[in-house]
Amino acid sequence: MTILVTGGAGFIGSNFVLDWLADPATRGEPVVNLDALTYAGNLHNLDALRGDARHVFVQGDICERALLDRIFAEHRPRAVVHFAAESHVDRSILGPGAFIRTNVEGTFALLEAARAHWGALAGDARAAFRFLHVSTDEVYGSLASDAPAFTETHPYEPNSPYSASKAASDHLVRAWHHTYGLPVLTTNCSNNYGPFQFPEKLIPLMIVNALAGKPLPVYGDGLQVRDWLYVADHCRAIRAVLARGRVGETYNIGGWNEQPNVEIVRTICALLDELRPQPQGPHARLVQYVADRPGHDRRYAIDARKIERELGWRPAETFATGIRKTVQWYLEHAAWVAEVQSGAYRDWVAANYGRR
Ligand code: NAD
Ligand code: DAU
Repeated sequence: MTILVTGGAGFIGSNFVLDWLADPATRGEPVVNLDALTYAGNLHNLDALRGDARHVFVQGDICERALLDRIFAEHRPRAVVHFAAESHVDRSILGPGAFIRTNVEGTFALLEAARAHWGALAGDARAAFRFLHVSTDEVYGSLASDAPAFTETHPYEPNSPYSASKAASDHLVRAWHHTYGLPVLTTNCSNNYGPFQFPEKLIPLMIVNALAGKPLPVYGDGLQVRDWLYVADHCRAIRAVLARGRVGETYNIGGWNEQPNVEIVRTICALLDELRPQPQGPHARLVQYVADRPGHDRRYAIDARKIERELGWRPAETFATGIRKTVQWYLEHAAWVAEVQSGAYRDWVAANYGRR
C-alpha cells in the first residue's frame, strides 16, 4: 500500500509527509512525493527522512500527464493527497498565470490520471481508492464582521486570482465525482502556521523580519481577520478525512481562532521580546502600516462543526501554544531561514514591498 502526495516539499505537504510516516495509525505506509520544487518547495524540509525507504521523492510537474501516468503505473497508490499549488495571494496578484496553470490545469491533469488508474481497478482496490483535494476557505470570499462562519454550503465567491484558481480546482474535483464517480474528498481549511512555512506569509515573515530588525509591514489598517490553525492539526484532520470521510463530501477545517492581523503581529513581537529581547527596545517598534493588498478580503472564519461531529476531529493546539512553538522553531532553525532567503526571495521582497 502506498499513497501519492503532491506538493509534499512545501509547507503543509512536508509537515503532512513527516507526520504520516511518524503516526502509528498509518502503520508506516510509504509515500510517493511528487513536487516540482518551485521556490516554495524545499527538500530540506524532509531531511529527517534521508535514507528512509518509505519516502520516494519524484521531482516533477503535476501538469505533465505522461509523468503522472508513469507514477500511477509504477507505484499503484491507493490514494492521492493533493497539496501541490501556487499558494500565495500576493504572488497571484502580481502574476496570476502560474496559478491558473498549476492550480487549474495541474488539478485537471491529476484528476484525469487518477481517473484512468481508478477506472482500471477492480473489487476492493477500486472501492477503497480516494482522491483527497486540499483546498482553502478563501474560495468562500469575504465575511462581514457579524456574519456567521463559513459552512460547507456557503456560496463560492472567490476574490483573488489565487482563490479563483482554487475554486476552479474544487469545481473540477466535484465534477469528476458527479460525472465519473471518482471517489473524491475535499477539505477547505483556514490559515495555517507552524514549522517550514515560507517567509512570504504573514507569521513567518513577521518573525524573520523582527529577528533581523527589519520593518513589519502591516497591510492597510491591519484589522483584517483570519482564522489560524496550527499545521499539525490540519495534517491530522486530513488523515481523518482520508480514513473516514464520506466520499463526495467536503469538510471545512479551522481553529476556532479568529484574530485581526495586528493582534497576530503584537503576539509575535511580545514572544520575541521574551525569548530574544533587543537592546533597541520592543519589537513592536518595527511595525509599519503599508499600502493595502488590492481586493483584500476582510474576514474569514470557519465553522468546523461537520468534521468535529462526523469524524471526531478537533484542534489539539491553542493559538497560545502553537504560536510559541512556531516562534521557537524559527529561532532554532536560523540556517533553514538563511537558506530560503536566497536571491529569488530577495527579488520577491523587492517586487511586493518596494512600491508599498
Ligand atoms: P506551499 O506554497 O508552501 O507549497 C506548495 C508546494 O507545491 C511546493 O512544494 C511546490 O514546489 C509545489 N508545486 C507548485 N507547483 C507545482 C507543480 N506544478 N507540480 C508539482 N508541485 C508543485 O503551499 P502550502 O501553504 O503548503 O499549501 C499547500 C496546499 O494547501 C495548497 O493547495 C493550498 O492551496 C492549501 N491551503 C493552504 C493553506 C495555508 O494557510 N498555507 C490553508 C488552506 C489550504
Ligand atoms: O485562508 C487560507 C489561506 O491562507 C491559504 O489558502 C493561502 O494559501 C495562504 O497563503 C493564506 O492566505 P492569506 O492571504 O490569508 O495569508 P497571508 O499570510 O499572505 O496573509 C495573512 C493576512 O496578513 C492577510 O490579511 C494579509 C496580511 N499581510 C500579509 C503579508 C504577507 C500583511 O498585513 N502583511 C504582509 O506582509
